[in-house]
Amino acid sequence: MEIRPTEHQVTDLYKLIIGCVVPRPIAWVTSLAENGRVNLAPFSFFNGVCSNPPTVSISFSWNPGSDDHLKDTWRNIRARGEFVVNMVDEAHAERMNLTSADFPPGESELEYAGLETAAPATGATPRIAGAPVCFECSLAHSVDVGEGAGSATLVLGTVRHVYVADGLIDDRLRVDVHALRPVGRLAGAQYCRVRDVFEMPRPSYADLRPEE
Ligand SMILES: Cc1cc2nc3c(=O)[nH]c(=O)nc-3n(C[C@H](O)[C@H](O)[C@H](O)COP(=O)(O)O)c2cc1C
Repeated sequence: MEIRPTEHQVTDLYKLIIGCVVPRPIAWVTSLAENGRVNLAPFSFFNGVCSNPPTVSISFSWNPGSDDHLKDTWRNIRARGEFVVNMVDEAHAERMNLTSADFPPGESELEYAGLETAAPATGATPRIAGAPVCFECSLAHSVDVGEGAGSATLVLGTVRHVYVADGLIDDRLRVDVHALRPVGRLAGAQYCRVRDVFEMPRPSYADLRPEE
């Protein structure tokens, strides 16, 4: 099937992207509202960007449900200049999903999901207590991509501190994925676990063409 984006609805193109770009890691983001309330929501248009400086990216979709069309998380990050990405493991998957509901302003997703926060090492935005990995980030760049429904703002955050729970990492910062038990996001209501890990050492050209 050949697909020309200009011939399709934005909503269908969204389904196409989230169905093909899989699995996606999930950033479970804590941010601070103007009144100091902690906001928590998941975002799977999320990835690592580079390591010098350590940087992550998140893309916040245009929000038809608010006057300024911003998700609360992005509005908070813009105002405060900081946020925390908490990684989602199997133990937190259901509670992560609860926090994606459209809670009215003033009602706490954290309280509803029975989650507690822990003090960050830097800045003012707390991390989720019990989350296996937390990246404390400063807003570095934002790029608006498109306009209106289906558009987004791509945000880059500089990681200024990383928390990793004991037992998941060694002295050389190598993380044990079997102990981490991350959850990935697929399309619709589908998620995946990382249970079927296989290894493929990267070959050198000399290994591939030994006769030359
Ligand atoms: C697993 C998962 C991944 C999501 N990924 C994104 C995303 O990448 N970008 C986005 O704008 N919304 C995403 N959403 C929807 C937001 O979580 C949802 O709109 C949430 O209510 C936003 O909260 P906020 O307004 O407090 O920021 C995702 C939802 C789920 C359950």
